[in-house]
Amino acid sequence: MANGNLKLAIQKKGRLTDNTIELLKRCNIEIDSYDERLLVSARNFKLDLLFLRDDDIPEYVQDGVADIGIVGENVVREKKSDVNIKKRLGFSRCKLRIGIPETDELEDLGKLNGKTIATSYPNILNDFLTKNNIKSKIIEISGSVEIAPSLGIADYICDLVSTGNTLKLNKLKKSFTVFDSEAVLISSFKLELEKEKIDVLSNLIKRIDSALNAKNSKYLMMNIPKDSLETIVKIIPSLKSPTILPLADENLLAVHAVIPADKFWQIIDDLKAVGATGILLIPIENIIL
Ligand code: PRP
Ligand code: ZN
Repeated sequence: MANGNLKLAIQKKGRLTDNTIELLKRCNIEIDSYDERLLVSARNFKLDLLFLRDDDIPEYVQDGVADIGIVGENVVREKKSDVNIKKRLGFSRCKLRIGIPETDELEDLGKLNGKTIATSYPNILNDFLTKNNIKSKIIEISGSVEIAPSLGIADYICDLVSTGNTLKLNKLKKSFTVFDSEAVLISSFKLELEKEKIDVLSNLIKRIDSALNAKNSKYLMMNIPKDSLETIVKIIPSLKSPTILPLADENLLAVHAVIPADKFWQIIDDLKAVGATGILLIPIENIIL
């Protein structure tokens, strides 16, 4: 499709798909339903979506078949693909971990010496072992790695863990972390020649930044006694100076501030203690910094 649109490769079905589509929505990019379709153009942005297996995304981007992609950093690292990591997206976090039988103990990394480890991530695992000066035997398996220990073909496994349910189902437990992963936005080095697409990409990145900032922030509103203003301003972990507004009741003030969402529950008791009332916490759609 030579329509000048930026081509974005995303996972067709899996742990990244919903989060990726949600991010695009938060960027105000509208996509028609994409059931069973491999290529869909956005309705209101110069963007085409290519739906692929996550394992294929780095190579498509490296070769310039897709201009950019959203994929787990684990896949990018494992494929040793020659692509730009443009941005960490903070979602679909998971860890590549050593998994061991429930009844085993693995006190220190050194105990991996001489063991056999089954994994779909031989490159990342090999880098990790080399860095830690450990010699294990790596067996590469492309799927259902978790059953390798019970089949007797490996002592341990190295696989993605997020909830830990898959390990538990297979009577395994998590041990050392080999790699911390999250979704990343990657771009092709071939894109550097296409001015028009680069403009679309920088617009997209601006929207992503705004969406990510907004997601991590909330709008806090409350009424406070006038004389506790100084204390309250110190408690609020505001992005900027809070807004102070007079109220009909002269003894009260309204205070509004954008705060990091995860701080709210840490400060709520302090706010109440100095007399804040009518506390509201409101989601924000976009923040342009
Ligand atoms: C991974 C991994 C495990 C599972 C772990 O597979 O191989 O099977 O997720 O997740 P849990 O700790 O929440 O149970 P995934 O579905 O991501 O498929 P892929 O690695 O083949 O892309
Ligand atoms: Zn996969």
